[in-house]
Amino acid sequence: MVFRDQAITPEQQIEFSRRFGILQIHVLKQFHLAGHPEILIVSNIVENGQPVGLGDAGKFWHSDLSYKELPSLGSMLHAQELPEEGGDTLFADQHKAWDTLPDALKKAVEGRRAAHSYTARYAEPKFEGNWRPTLSAEQLAQVQEVIHPVVRTHPENGRKALFVSEGFTTRILDLPEDESRQILAELYAHSTHPDLIYRHQWQPRDMVFWDNRSLQHLAAGCPSHLRRKLYRTTIQGDATF
Ligand code: SIN
Repeated sequence: MVFRDQAITPEQQIEFSRRFGILQIHVLKQFHLAGHPEILIVSNIVENGQPVGLGDAGKFWHSDLSYKELPSLGSMLHAQELPEEGGDTLFADQHKAWDTLPDALKKAVEGRRAAHSYTARYAEPKFEGNWRPTLSAEQLAQVQEVIHPVVRTHPENGRKALFVSEGFTTRILDLPEDESRQILAELYAHSTHPDLIYRHQWQPRDMVFWDNRSLQHLAAGCPSHLRRKLYRTTIQGDATF
């Protein structure tokens, strides 16, 4: 859902997000908004030599916090500063991805489980530069590998959705490594096909609210000399099934 021109404060974003559930606190506490740990700053801006936010959040397709036992129900992103060029966010419909998956692949993955890890692609640069701080032992302890079904059921509408992503999924359990890699590559290609995508071109003060149980998303990136800053809240969801 896109809410245009929302002149709201961080407190109002938090308050509104809380109506949908418990807010999740991102492991990178260095990028929390001061005084508001519920808000993760997504930004490529560097001030006094320090990044003000997570500069390359969403550089690989993912569903927010799928690396947690209780992944996110949904996220809200509120635009603070936008670049004149680029900076779009892409969303891919994972119900449609499941519905249109070839039968052979459906058969290969239904009932299977996959491992998800925050550190799967953590340090891999994709855009210019790499914004990832080294994780402390305490942070690493918060992001231990978790297991989720490859195909999950949406707890509200009962529809199936693919629930693997290039960002956080590391392997399908109980399959030889090369077979797991091959199937995941096919699932990633299918689940991010252009037919499944909505591309959001940000306007000032847009607030976008998406369902992480139904969608994967990707930050398309922008030239590094242009400033981009958004505030993200993330709402905890149910255990996957
Ligand atoms: C994210 O992955 O939550 C950030 C997406 C974006 O910066 O467009």
